[in-house]
Amino acid sequence: MALLEVQDLRVSFDTPDGTVRAVRGLSFSVDRGQTLAVVGESGSGKSVATQTITGLTRGAQISGTAYFEGTDLISADAATLRRLRGAEIGMIFQDPLSSLHPHYRIGWQIVEMIQAHDHEISKRAARRRAADLLTLVGIPRAAERIDDYPHQFSGGMRQRVMIAMAMALDPALLIADEPTTALDVTVQAQVLNVMRRLQEEFGTAIILITHDLGVVAEMSDEVIVMYAGAMMERAPRRDIFYRNHHPYTQGLLASLPAQSGKRLTPIAGSPPSLINLPKGCPFAARCPHVFDRCRVETPPATDVQGDPRHQSACWLDHNVTEAVAS
Ligand SMILES: Nc1ncnc2c1ncn2[C@@H]1O[C@H](COP(=O)(O)OP(=O)(O)OP(=O)(O)O)[C@@H](O)[C@H]1O
Ligand code: SF4
Ligand SMILES: [Mg+2]
Repeated sequence: MALLEVQDLRVSFDTPDGTVRAVRGLSFSVDRGQTLAVVGESGSGKSVATQTITGLTRGAQISGTAYFEGTDLISADAATLRRLRGAEIGMIFQDPLSSLHPHYRIGWQIVEMIQAHDHEISKRAARRRAADLLTLVGIPRAAERIDDYPHQFSGGMRQRVMIAMAMALDPALLIADEPTTALDVTVQAQVLNVMRRLQEEFGTAIILITHDLGVVAEMSDEVIVMYAGAMMERAPRRDIFYRNHHPYTQGLLASLPAQSGKRLTPIAGSPPSLINLPKGCPFAARCPHVFDRCRVETPPATDVQGDPRHQSACWLDHNVTEAVAS
């Protein structure tokens, strides 16, 4: 059984303008030790989906299931979720300052976190573990820097501290929401390396949310492409890059700046309103292959070339894939 199995997750928010359907029928699973990348333009529901799983969306209407080691996170009570968050599911976000308290020394924060979940451990042992973790994520002179405050670290170093904190209790799953977006390219590569090393050492599964297909290429085993709250395509990494099916996936790849010799071509237009979604395929207004049926019926996610690991929600022939690189 997969470590995390999400089925038909739906999340909406009532607002004065109407109901925002942020996540619409999302299903996916993550295996132990594997990295699942979630990609898609801004507003596609990546953060709402993962925050909902960890009980962090307030005031939302939620349905579906998310089984994590036998517990349905969607129907779990607040105390269960609090226990799982941190101990079993670690989280890191784009901005470490939003998760690190500015007024407390980072060592103290990590020790608090360890002791909140492990009532047996002594302060001394927890502090030693915190220093070890900081060394592990590559903080130089960790034994001294453990008493520094968050603002005394650079952006990249702060992100390493966040990773140390998220990994402090050896969680089975790490959710990383744009962990390197705010960092420059060199620092980004270093931080990704740290994540990968820890993953190998602890066998952690990772859900990695990113805008950056370069990061996807480097880090992921499997990829979900989201658009307007729904999954457009899901496949093992290689298939996303070389045997993709969905026109939206192809659009994202064509807008990837790193493609050698090719000019960056952003997808024209913008995503639909999540309050008044059009009938049919949500991508229809921007799709170069759109045809009549697309505007009437919503395509369900179905297997591509008979492979259940590769699914696409598009009416185009599922026996044909398109290598964008060609
Ligand atoms: N509390 C809320 N109330 C109303 N709408 C919300 C709320 N939280 C999120 N949304 C809406 O849900 C949609 C999905 O947001 P989400 O943050 O998941 O996008 P995202 O894919 O993570 O985007 P980004 O790449 O910019 O982080 C957006 O349209 C957003 O405005
Ligand atoms: S269903 Fe139609 S509009 Fe939607 S992605 Fe496929 S071809 Fe394009
Ligand atoms: Mg987000």
